[in-house]
Amino acid sequence: MESSAVTSASARVVTTPAEMHRVADEIRAAGLTIGFVPTMGYLHDGHLQLLRKARELADVVILSIFVNPTQFSANEDLGAYPRDFERDKALAEAEGTQIIYNPSPESMYPEGFQTQVNLPGMTNVLCGVSRPHHFPGVAQVCAKLFNAVKPHFAVFGLKDFQQYLVVTQMVKDLDMDLKVVGIPIVREKDGLAMSSRNVYMTPAEREQAVVLNQSIKLAEKAVAEGERDAARLLDLVRGHIATAPAADIDYVEIRSIPGLATVEGRIEKPVLLAMAVKFGKARLLDNTVLLREQPNANV
Ligand code: PAF
Repeated sequence: MESSAVTSASARVVTTPAEMHRVADEIRAAGLTIGFVPTMGYLHDGHLQLLRKARELADVVILSIFVNPTQFSANEDLGAYPRDFERDKALAEAEGTQIIYNPSPESMYPEGFQTQVNLPGMTNVLCGVSRPHHFPGVAQVCAKLFNAVKPHFAVFGLKDFQQYLVVTQMVKDLDMDLKVVGIPIVREKDGLAMSSRNVYMTPAEREQAVVLNQSIKLAEKAVAEGERDAARLLDLVRGHIATAPAADIDYVEIRSIPGLATVEGRIEKPVLLAMAVKFGKARLLDNTVLLREQPNANV
């Protein structure tokens, strides 16, 4: 089956919500499924994996590139956030992406915009403590993107595990008709989780940032050897991260899945070990699911 919205070899760039609605309606009317990868651009291999997954799942792949102002607070890196649309477009096309949704902030948030989306129990913890604007902004923009793109599947990287859980809960709560798919973290050769923000690090900071993945491996090994005490696991992880002089820990926590409640005492079922650690200007995230039944399984 074909749709005139997706016949060209180069990706079609859509720049307004109204046009995105029309294109999505046309694709659905042709009986085709839509796989959606929302991003803020500056694509790396992790994003390309998400595009590959979307392509596997659906007939038409739509990538959004939108640096969403509402998920940044005034003192954060919105202006400095790395951008390179032409490079992103070429990379996305090489992965078979048919449509790039690249709206302007004005078309997304015109004067008079009001609607907020919040899930307080999940957005005020972990990254939400130091970045209170972040997840309400993410939930708001994802709701808008999902409404315009009308995807059957939306693919998210699990490096932002809290984001994945927040979006999944929002989709459930608001009866949105799509499936949220999580893809395991994509790592550099030395184990550092890929992130658009890795470019902010100096070479010395970049070298030391490997402690994050090393600390995760130490926790996984301890659990495999029978350790179940949450406090001892956290001490092990924090202690290893502290061996890197450049590391400035924002949080290292163990939380329940999917509700993100605090976990104390013995861990008995799969839990999230999550961390945010600053290395100079880069605030890096990493995580793992401890006591996971199937290693590397999509959540
Ligand atoms: O993960 C991201 O890049 C962003 O938070 C997202 C999901 C595209 C929303 O702006």
